Amino acid sequence: MPTPAARERSSHHAVGVLLAVLRVLLNLTHDNELGSHRLGEQEGAVKTVLDIIFLLCDVLPDEHRFDTNVLGLGLLINMIEHNSSNRQQLDRLPVDYHVPLHGNETLPTGEGCPPPEVKGDDETSQEEGRGLLKGRNTCVRSLIALFLKHYHNAEGATIELDHLSPYPTFPMDYKI
Ligand SMILES: *[C@@H]1O[C@H](CO)[C@@H](O)[C@H](O)[C@H]1NC(C)=O
Ligand SMILES: *[C@@H]1O[C@H](CO)[C@@H](O)[C@H](O)[C@H]1NC(C)=O
Repeated sequence: MPTPAARERSSHHAVGVLLAVLRVLLNLTHDNELGSHRLGEQEGAVKTVLDIIFLLCDVLPDEHRFDTNVLGLGLLINMIEHNSSNRQQLDRLPVDYHVPLHGNETLPTGEGCPPPEVKGDDETSQEEGRGLLKGRNTCVRSLIALFLKHYHNAEGATIELDHLSPYPTFPMDYKI
């Protein structure tokens, strides 16, 4: 039976390896069509990246949560930026991660707004843009809700910081 300390050490190592793998994949897919294509053709790749962003981040210790979130989102961006079939995978994935909204906030329906710019002016790309905008896809809605959650957290943090003023000032005679 491993001791709690040993268990903590090995889960710490596991997270370290996961972060390293995410960094490698991020590099391989950065501005790289072939990398995005190769990763996207692995079964369930888009869903796995979403699971990392939405499910894994929630159970990670605080010190790893931010890095994992940012690396996961970066990887998702790389995968969909240069590859329309990865974008379609994301658009068609019927997964709602139920990110709670702030107060009585609701997500916009996007009715009456122009579709966002998507690369490619063929009909499929334009349809994709309209679909994304309407947020008909629940995992895109989850991503929007995730953004709003962090936005409100950041607002809260700014208000807290404001209460800490006056800010400490550096001593003027400080010498190195
Ligand atoms: C995008 O990636 C898929 C695999 O997910 C591949 O089949 C397809 O050819 C790629 N498309 C482009 C335009 O790179
Ligand atoms: C949400 O609640 C705030 C007050 O808490 C109110 O001012 C606002 O109009 C509400 N918004 C909607 C869309 O109901």
